[in-house]
Amino acid sequence: MRSTSSRYGAAAQAFHWLTVMLVLAAYVLSKGDQDSLYSAAADGLRRIHEALGVLVFIVVVLQLLWRLIDSAPAKQPMPRWMAAAAKLVHFALYALLIAIPATAVLGTWLEGIPLTLPGFDIAPQIAKAHGLGQLIMEIHTTLGDAILWVAGVHAAAALFHHFYLRDEVFQSMASGRMND
Ligand code: HEM
Ligand code: HEM
Repeated sequence: MRSTSSRYGAAAQAFHWLTVMLVLAAYVLSKGDQDSLYSAAADGLRRIHEALGVLVFIVVVLQLLWRLIDSAPAKQPMPRWMAAAAKLVHFALYALLIAIPATAVLGTWLEGIPLTLPGFDIAPQIAKAHGLGQLIMEIHTTLGDAILWVAGVHAAAALFHHFYLRDEVFQSMASGRMND
């Protein structure tokens, strides 16, 4: 369950790969329709997109709480700049994972639009400021696109470690069987 000195534990791995799947699904479904996500035609899609996004937020909060009691595996031997870059990218990913759902909820409510989840709505809990809400939704879109780029670089780095540097970084986030 807990991380060892060389590998993330089952819980940390489950949080990581669940987050990956939820983010990818939320992203794909944000682009899945020609109409705006706000249109009546995209109602079902928007509800799924918002539910996946809210789940990302819940999973990431749990992941960070777990991270407080379960530290990451010991660092692999690598140049200092590489370890610093990895730390920076992990920080950026966590920041985006929090900021993307947060801007979405704030933006829609400022626009005066309810949060729409499958089966129910949550009416705006803050005063309407439509222009600001629209701006924050544009930021949401930019951050939603940005996380794919940052995660892409992060995934490429993980594969570079595995296939080129041939160290244990990739295996640290993979199930035990891949290490045999
Ligand atoms: C990690 C989670 C999420 C990701 C990766 C993500 C990504 C995106 C992206 C890329 C777009 C722009 C789509 C386009 O190009 O038109 C978008 C739009 C949108 N997202 Fe999310 N989103 C996430 C979570 C959420 C959540 C939690 C909500 C709940 C309110 C939400 C509500 C919306 C809405 C309403 C739009 C349409 C905005 C507009 O057309 O102005 N998203 N999202
Ligand atoms: C949306 C996509 C992704 C997100 C948001 C994400 C996020 C993260 C975060 C936040 C960490 C730091 C964990 C911690 O120490 O607290 C991490 C570690 C890691 N991720 Fe990802 N990840 C994504 C995709 C991927 C993919 C596709 C791969 C593999 C190809 C991957 C491989 C790894 C590995 C190997 C580590 C451990 C790195 C180390 O200890 O230096 N990730 N990821």
